[in-house]
Amino acid sequence: MTQDDLKQAAAEAALQYVEDNAWLGVGTGSTVDFFIEALAKKRNAIKGAVSSSERTTALLKKCGITVEELNNAGDLSVYIDGADEVTEHGAMIKGGGGALTREKIIAAASRKFVCIADASKLKPFLGDFPVPIEVIPMARSFVARAIVRLGGQPEWRSGFTTDNDNAILDVHGWELLNPVEMESKLNQIPGVVTVGIFAQRGADVILLGDEDGVRTLTPETF
Ligand code: A5P
Repeated sequence: MTQDDLKQAAAEAALQYVEDNAWLGVGTGSTVDFFIEALAKKRNAIKGAVSSSERTTALLKKCGITVEELNNAGDLSVYIDGADEVTEHGAMIKGGGGALTREKIIAAASRKFVCIADASKLKPFLGDFPVPIEVIPMARSFVARAIVRLGGQPEWRSGFTTDNDNAILDVHGWELLNPVEMESKLNQIPGVVTVGIFAQRGADVILLGDEDGVRTLTPETF
């Protein structure tokens, strides 16, 4: 099986969490692309989707799925998204694709977060993958210096601008043994828009595609 097969299996398993006649939130990334293709078969049973990025919006529309603004949809029944890393407790690093801000907003507005990934994304702790941090452009160097004081090595994602016209710093060198605390500390730095640590509002269900099928982890039972 290829890594894409594993992503697709996890993505298709997420369909069981999609409620009829409701709005759902849809994340961003290659795993989510498989989910959107699967969701197209249920498009007449749902009200539609709130999208986390221009990329996702384009694919949702191509698949004939109604796209609605979060302001109009209100609270969402479920949010389906991938992750760059996830622990068995549901803490994640997200934002490898740069869509972390809208992802975090929609996740917060959703009753349930279902994380879909191939099993290589499951880690004992977060930090191998550099932590993306979206920053207001004028604060980029200031925030970078604050991150260095917290033991990280920030790297500007040069030539990349988010959907919100901001910059991204990818932070290397952190072993995140307490991701909730680090998420809080980083959120206090003026100029930080969104931290790519999703630990305060982590995943409620993790669907992991591996060679034996799709494994379901439900961190709230740990
Ligand atoms: C997008 O900004 C990210 O948060 C993605 O959810 C994450 O990078 C996972 O992407 P893949 O499904 O492509 O691995």
